[in-house]
Amino acid sequence: MERGVISSTRRKLLAMLALLAPAALLGRTAQAKEAAKMDVITAIKTRRSVRKYTTEPVSDADLHEILACGMQAPSACNQQPWRFVIIRDKALLAKAGGINPYAKQAKDAPLAVLVCGDTTLEKCEGYWVQDCSNCAMNMLLAAHALGLGAVWTGIHPLPDREQGFRALCGLPPEVNPLALLVLGHPAEHPQSEDRFKADRISQDHW
Ligand SMILES: Cc1cc2nc3c(=O)[nH]c(=O)nc-3n(C[C@H](O)[C@H](O)[C@H](O)COP(=O)(O)O)c2cc1C
Repeated sequence: MERGVISSTRRKLLAMLALLAPAALLGRTAQAKEAAKMDVITAIKTRRSVRKYTTEPVSDADLHEILACGMQAPSACNQQPWRFVIIRDKALLAKAGGINPYAKQAKDAPLAVLVCGDTTLEKCEGYWVQDCSNCAMNMLLAAHALGLGAVWTGIHPLPDREQGFRALCGLPPEVNPLALLVLGHPAEHPQSEDRFKADRISQDHW
């Protein structure tokens, strides 16, 4: 009888453990991922443009984190004028290289994010470029800190490229494409380089 009670308690315990174990494991994985994230100084000093990618897709969670980091950027009057078009369509990614010859790597990437500035969201007119550049830089750093590779491919202020991406993604006139960030898991690992130049710095006067 006692044996039966013990074994039924044990069974319940085992069943509970079986339920909890995957959650605990998931928790540990999330914790490990969190712990593996780079501090901001390391991320800034080791980030490089990555133009070769594996075929592994970028997870929705990583993409969400990258966009969330972009949207944390400072902006004039806190106006946050950014808009994003996530491009996964292979035909569109291939066409990016036709608009900007230096964006040919997009055709082999799992995705690219078109970072745009919406002038109707501006409260302090004329600052969308700085605002969206801050946003794009945050995104590049976040991608790097997550172990992904990314490169900024330039659009604004070149009219041909602006027109090309406007047509490619059907942007309305008030939305200006700034940059196409090409993203993926890195298939190359460019070395970091020290770019500190003391002669670029003056004290008090030029
Ligand atoms: C405004 C801007 C436009 C850029 N355009 C391109 C581009 O069209 N294609 C490209 O492969 N890289 C482009 N880059 C990436 C630069 O070439 C790269 O940042 C620079 O060579 C420094 O290398 P790093 O990013 O590895 O530090 C661009 C970067 C910026 C900031």
